[in-house]
Amino acid sequence: MEAQSFGDKHTVRKLETVHRYLQTYTTALKFQRFELLYVDACAGSGSSVPRGALEPTESIQVRLDGFAHPVADTDEIIVGSAIRALGVNPPFHKYLLNDVKQSNVDALRKAVRQDFPHLADRVELTRLDANEMLRNLCTSTDWKETRAVVFLDPFGLQIDYSTLELLGQTKAVDLWYLVPVFAMYRQVSGEGQINPDGGPRVDAALGTDAWRHVVVVEERSTDLFNQSHCRSKRAVDIAWFEKVAKERLGEAFGGRVLDETLPLGRNGIQEFSLMFAWANPGEKAKLAAKLAKAVLA
Ligand SMILES: C[S@@+](CC[C@H](N)C(=O)[O-])C[C@H]1O[C@@H](n2cnc3c(N)ncnc32)[C@H](O)[C@@H]1O
Repeated sequence: MEAQSFGDKHTVRKLETVHRYLQTYTTALKFQRFELLYVDACAGSGSSVPRGALEPTESIQVRLDGFAHPVADTDEIIVGSAIRALGVNPPFHKYLLNDVKQSNVDALRKAVRQDFPHLADRVELTRLDANEMLRNLCTSTDWKETRAVVFLDPFGLQIDYSTLELLGQTKAVDLWYLVPVFAMYRQVSGEGQINPDGGPRVDAALGTDAWRHVVVVEERSTDLFNQSHCRSKRAVDIAWFEKVAKERLGEAFGGRVLDETLPLGRNGIQEFSLMFAWANPGEKAKLAAKLAKAVLA
């Protein structure tokens, strides 16, 4: 398996949480008439190696292509979301696996061929931007006949709010989204400057620029010579971005977002927040929220 170089304990927690949900999902819906899809829009290569394991040791070689190539000790390899989903029993009817990187798509294809040949005809691999892939999915699927779990696991601010809105409009998708709250926060410096490159990515991720009017405050002070000074500073923390992102996700999903989230990060910094939203407004679909709450507990 071609392992990507990222991940840690928090990666495992995230993956185990989503995997538990997938397992209960296919079990709960197995007697329903729907075609069940698992959609992994940022699927990676199928595995990763914790950063800590990437010291140049005898057991791990990192090549210029960014892959970590475990030579002997494979204990530390983290099995990725797509491979875990393929192991769910009963299986999904279809697995739509996508990554923007060709090498990741190739690695996934190899893993499916080697380890899941019996599911090969259920797997569709694409190499697209996640937003484009999901736009295609939302507009080309008969959502009266289909139900899907979508996992969005980006490294950063790659997912546009318009994509979340489309997913919400299907009324048939359950979404697990690893929201990059730290990436949002760090676009505002302590001195209240909004990063000219990163700021527009936050606009796109939240589908609004209203945050810009809240994140910076002007502070007035008077010096020893009675001169008045004005300086700007950041007025919000990571938790504020998490709250706003959850509200926005809720708006895209008709208010159906779970209040509980899974905060994830390293070295005491919350980098991400795993959130769950369900698009189906029906009474029965509230079961999705109950299942998600149970797996988050
Ligand atoms: C955190 S990793 C996903 C890990 C995967 N879920 C796993 O468990 O192994 C994020 C992935 O998103 C991919 N990616 C980055 N930008 C993307 C985009 N715009 N569209 C689709 N995939 C993207 C990266 O190549 C990377 O493999």
